[in-house]
Amino acid sequence: MSEIKEEFLKKSLKCNVIVYDEIDSTNNIAKKLAYDGIEDKTLIVANRQSMGRGRLGRSFLSPDGGIYLSIVLRPELSVEKTLKITSGAAVAVRRVISKYCNDAKIKWVNDIYISGKKVCGILTESATCSDGGLNYVIVGIGINVFGNCNDYGKELKDIVTTIEENSRLKLDKNVIITKVYEEVLNVYSKLEEFDSTMEEYKKHSLVLGKNVYALNGKEKRCINVIDIDNDGALVAIDCETREKVKISSGEVSIRFN
Ligand code: BTN
Repeated sequence: MSEIKEEFLKKSLKCNVIVYDEIDSTNNIAKKLAYDGIEDKTLIVANRQSMGRGRLGRSFLSPDGGIYLSIVLRPELSVEKTLKITSGAAVAVRRVISKYCNDAKIKWVNDIYISGKKVCGILTESATCSDGGLNYVIVGIGINVFGNCNDYGKELKDIVTTIEENSRLKLDKNVIITKVYEEVLNVYSKLEEFDSTMEEYKKHSLVLGKNVYALNGKEKRCINVIDIDNDGALVAIDCETREKVKISSGEVSIRFN
C-alpha cells in the first residue's frame, strides 16, 4: 500500500500541502486553518482519520487503505452558487476514478459508486463572513483505494467497495491525490460555464431515469427522477401522487429491499 509523500505532492501540485499520518478529520483541521486565514487552494491530506465525518452528521470510516483529503477554497461566489462546487466535485472525482475502473457513477448528491457499491463520499462545508459573504468552502473527499469491502466491517461490506477491487492497474495514493486535486480545480475554474459540467454529471448519474427513494429525516417516498437541474436539484415525479417535485436536500436510496 503506498504512503502519502508530502514532497511528491508539493512538487507536482505547486500548492500549499499539509500531510498527516493520522488526524481526526481533514475537514475539521481544514475549517480551523481556513478560519485562521490559510491560503486559497490549500490541500490537506491524511493516511487515515480517527473521526472521519460524512454527510447528514454520519461518520465516515477511514482506514489506512483510503485517501482522505480536504481542499480549502476561497471563491468570490454567492452562497447559493457554492452548491455548484458540491456537484462539480463529484464530476471531478468520477473522472479520476473512471481512469481505473469501469462504470463509475454519481449517486446524487455526490457519492461515487462502482457496480452499485460506494467507493467515494464527498462532504462540502462552507462558512460566511460577518457581512454575509462567503468566507471559505471546504471540499472533503474520501476514496476507498486499497483493500476490499471486508475491511469495512459487517455493516458496510455489502454496500462499499474499493478501487483495488475493481481495477487491475497499479495504484499509488500520491498519483490519485494529484489527479483528484487537479480535476477539482479544473472544474472549479469553470463554474461560469457550469452547463457542460452538469451535462457530464447527468451522463454519469446513477439515479437519472430511475425509481429511487427520496429520504428526508423520517420521510421516505418513491420518486421517478426525470431530470437534474443546473443547481444540482432532482426533478422527479412522485410515484404515488404523480405530482412533479423538486428535491434539493436530503439523500436518495437506490435500494428497494
Ligand atoms: C459521505 O459519504 O457522507 C461524505 C464523506 C466525506 C468523507 C471525507 S474524508 C475527507 C474529509 N474529512 C472528513 O471528515 N470527511 C471528508
